[in-house]
Amino acid sequence: MRTGKKILVSGVKPTGRPHIGNYFGAMKQMVDMQDEYDCSIFIADLHALTSVASGNPAENWSGTELSQATLDLAIDYLAIGLDPKKVTLYKQSDTPQVAELAWIFNCITTMPYLSRAHAFKDSQVKEKETNVGVFDYPILMSADILLPGADIVPVGMDQKQHIEIARDTAEKFNRIFGETFTMPEPLIRKDVAVVPGTDGQKMSKSYNNTIGLFASDEEVLKAVMKIPTDSKGVDEPKNSDECKVFALHKLFSNNGTDADFLDLKARYEKGGIGYKESKEILAHKISAFIAPLRAEREKIASDPEYVIDLLTAGGKKAHMKAEKKMEEVRKKVGLTFNQ
Ligand code: TYM
Repeated sequence: MRTGKKILVSGVKPTGRPHIGNYFGAMKQMVDMQDEYDCSIFIADLHALTSVASGNPAENWSGTELSQATLDLAIDYLAIGLDPKKVTLYKQSDTPQVAELAWIFNCITTMPYLSRAHAFKDSQVKEKETNVGVFDYPILMSADILLPGADIVPVGMDQKQHIEIARDTAEKFNRIFGETFTMPEPLIRKDVAVVPGTDGQKMSKSYNNTIGLFASDEEVLKAVMKIPTDSKGVDEPKNSDECKVFALHKLFSNNGTDADFLDLKARYEKGGIGYKESKEILAHKISAFIAPLRAEREKIASDPEYVIDLLTAGGKKAHMKAEKKMEEVRKKVGLTFNQ
């Protein structure tokens, strides 16, 4: 049902704990935009299942771990300020219609087309025994995005191709069966499109280069101190653009405008700051940013039943909306008698 507001859809996979790359790249936008948009935000537990047999030894996988990670992520969403009165917050598996729609999309998608997807190609390069779920991942994601009628999808750069696939899929379905799905637009904020990790590569749960969104002060300090730097001494001028520590300072700089950030930049250029001091300032900034989030999280985590009830209610709402759209889709593709 259209409320007059545009529809925003996004999700995070409950694999590993969220890091500041997830936050700045996508989760923050969900919070910032919750008043302006009709938001469907979910925990992508069906997508998480693709890692059962994609390189992770299957014996390490346990259903209990996934359901705990799902609950943890729901707590994380609430702790950063998502308001369940404003957004529909749910776990993906409470809308099984996405799996049904993904099947229908599978039948209008060719294998060569999906073979070009980055995640699948990466998986093949790593010579993993790629499971069909990994191959089909973008199609399930298309269903996540198109079923609630997304106008806009806030994500990091690594998801850009997935949104393009969702757009292609919408276009193809609409061409074959008539106008059904809205064309979604990615929302990728330039300054945080690829948040770097402690090694300078994209921050990623799979690269062991993350700073946890709810990390303790000690964990933050440890992660920051291991950032590699060159061997320039305190007084030597330094190139801030090449410094991995400086790249992370930018996240806490109000888009490069804060006075202390500009001061730091000047000290890099002139000389007069050592990497140790720069790291200590950074660790302090990150910890000061995390502290209130962590406190809020602890409060929410003390009542898991409350969170489960919220998710159940969100799931019912999302299910109802999904069912309404699926009725239209089933009719169009010929899965019902009342044409
Ligand atoms: P996931 O769980 O890998 O990541 C969640 C969000 O965080 C963004 N992100 C980053 N942004 C900037 N810099 C980084 N270093 C960084 N690392 C991660 C991701 O781009 C993402 O937006 N496939 C999705 C989950 C998903 C989804 C969807 C998202 C499933 N269905 C429908 C949007 C719409 C994923 O694995 O995200």
